[in-house]
Amino acid sequence: MKRSPSAKNPAQGLENLWPAADIARSAPLLRALHILTREGRLNQDSRRKLKQVMHLVQALRPALDALLKEKDQPIVADLGAGKSYLGFILYDLVLGPAGRGHIVCVETRADLCERARALARESGFERMEFIQGAIAEANLAGGRADMVTALHACDTATDEAIGFALRHGARYVALVPCCQAEVARLLAERKGPLAQLWRHPIQRREFGAQVTNVMRALFLESHGYRVRVTELTGLEHSLKNELILAERHQTSNAMARRELDELAAQLGVRPALLAS
Ligand SMILES: C[S@@+](CC[C@H](N)C(=O)[O-])C[C@H]1O[C@@H](n2cnc3c(N)ncnc32)[C@H](O)[C@@H]1O
Repeated sequence: MKRSPSAKNPAQGLENLWPAADIARSAPLLRALHILTREGRLNQDSRRKLKQVMHLVQALRPALDALLKEKDQPIVADLGAGKSYLGFILYDLVLGPAGRGHIVCVETRADLCERARALARESGFERMEFIQGAIAEANLAGGRADMVTALHACDTATDEAIGFALRHGARYVALVPCCQAEVARLLAERKGPLAQLWRHPIQRREFGAQVTNVMRALFLESHGYRVRVTELTGLEHSLKNELILAERHQTSNAMARRELDELAAQLGVRPALLAS
């Protein structure tokens, strides 16, 4: 019986799925992502995972391409980075092939930063840096970040990411918020007829997350960003699926700020973000 090419080499075809400049250089990262097995085979589950990753890269690519056109050394900061996979992927597929630009990952957990440093060394990704610490206290040398990403940064860490973006004059911001507790807590104290909307804890959590993300988008608008809220992947992949994409096009927007304050007054909740 004639063997098909994929039976001879199970990772064959990966070049088409993972458009990196040097696929051999990508191997440690693809193993860490479990897209490749230790033996270098394509993981059974990998097509679905690759689809998710590519969807995110496609959503971020126009901003990265614009930055690469404008800046000699664009700086991307990934906040609440965890294992820093998003930073690695953007380096491998975009900044690495461009030969320019830096990725800085900020993460509180020292063990994750250490592992990410080791993977960067193994991969030869020289323009990646890892800062161990809280996003709220992180300040990049030079005070500039051109793009800020925060993927599933827990609770108010997403708000810290917004503060970081403003502090560093980021032109682009991409947020996929995670669990949210602050507004649900504030809603629990709120009385009156509207409180029926969040009477049960599960409704409070969902409504609280919705209000939080609406306020985050308005807050970014009030700071001069144009905001688009879209879906990260199909809902079958993750319930935390909202992608907030923002591009700064003016210094501020007083009308958005008024709308934000009116919404907060109407609902009777003011998360800490609004005080910043
Ligand atoms: C759910 S994980 C997401 C990791 C990664 N962004 C991803 O999508 O795979 C959230 C990460 O954010 C980190 N984190 C939470 N709060 C943080 C903060 N205030 N400053 C820095 N890192 C934070 C946690 O340690 C954790 O690794």
